[in-house]
Amino acid sequence: MADVEVLADAAVLIDGARIAWVGPRREAPKVEAQHAAPVRVVEIDGVLFPGFIDCHTHGVFGAPRLDDQERRALGVDYKAIAAAGGGILQSVRDVRRRSEAELVTLTRSRLETLIAHGATTIEVKSGYGLELEAELKQLRVIRQLSEQLPVTLIPTFLGAHEVPPEYRNKRAEYVRLVCEEMLPAVAREKLAQCCDVFCEPGVFTVAESRQILTAARSHGFAVKLHADELEGSGGAELAAELGAVSADHLAAISEPGIGALAASPTVAVLLPATMLFLGKRSQAPARRLIDAGAAVALATDFNPGTSPTVSLPLVMSLGVSQLGLRHAEVVTAVTINAAAALGLAADRGQIAAGCVADLVVVAADDWREVAYWMGKEVVSAVWTAGSACPTKGAPIS
Ligand code: NIG
Ligand code: FE
Repeated sequence: MADVEVLADAAVLIDGARIAWVGPRREAPKVEAQHAAPVRVVEIDGVLFPGFIDCHTHGVFGAPRLDDQERRALGVDYKAIAAAGGGILQSVRDVRRRSEAELVTLTRSRLETLIAHGATTIEVKSGYGLELEAELKQLRVIRQLSEQLPVTLIPTFLGAHEVPPEYRNKRAEYVRLVCEEMLPAVAREKLAQCCDVFCEPGVFTVAESRQILTAARSHGFAVKLHADELEGSGGAELAAELGAVSADHLAAISEPGIGALAASPTVAVLLPATMLFLGKRSQAPARRLIDAGAAVALATDFNPGTSPTVSLPLVMSLGVSQLGLRHAEVVTAVTINAAAALGLAADRGQIAAGCVADLVVVAADDWREVAYWMGKEVVSAVWTAGSACPTKGAPIS
């Protein structure tokens, strides 16, 4: 992960939506001469990165949860806040009440902010509906926005984010509803590519998560897990067993869990902003995961309860300061490894011939500054599929 190639004075040739060539600038005239079509030249002042990939967000929600934040400051913990009517179920009541159009408007401006901070591929989960129609509504919001926004959105069905209140005393029935009614409906309408479960003591058990994700695989979904976030329960081991594309959070992962991920292609997605926002003093064991041989990615976890940050560069800073990663490792973690966490590593997350031309300019002299100016808006331009991104204003020339 620390092995990134940094080219000084480089050039990139884009042909349509893809990168055709990258190399030393002095070789560019030769490459240009071989190219059939006329080439438009754009000078970059700063550092060009592969477009950042936010592989874990809960981007479709209504109101922010300000009371949760204040209660937490006063010493009430995440689970107690949920028990008192806050938490995920507060966002569920809110999302159920809102129209699809209203959610599109709210989500569009929030995703535009993520894009302005350099995210060019964004995974977006449902999970604030917890009933068929409300889950489909969230996924339709994502579908509408993937047609409106100039980025790639990867929709994930998270119907098993929490047991809704109406199923409190009959949770097996809710699991059945997710497996037998929601998953087939989402598959029929092709509304999601991945399926995720919040596997955590007090939310969904390992056995329930296995049941849901096994059903999801049979419908052709890639599977992901919120695993071992607050307490270790074997979520990482389950992710490896199921061939999940990722196991996410992992702040309480066990030694056997680390071993299981290291021995599997499942990516460990770490979310340091979440632990920070929750006021936790601990973080996921990033260094131990990497040393064991696991692939680590970083993401925002953008959501109204535990991580309202829109900035992958901020998450990269936290990767260095809170997780003990090197600059090169955090770059790998939000590019090629984040692509792998979405099954997209074949042609995203690198500036290389054949890859989708998603690129981000960081206004800096040294590439490491992307993870240094903590909280600053360091991204000065964004291209997706070869075109300058309008959300950043006029294209540079
Ligand atoms: O990733 N852990 C579960 N889900 C979210 C929190 C969602 C919420 O609190 O609304 C997370 O942190
Ligand atoms: Fe999450």
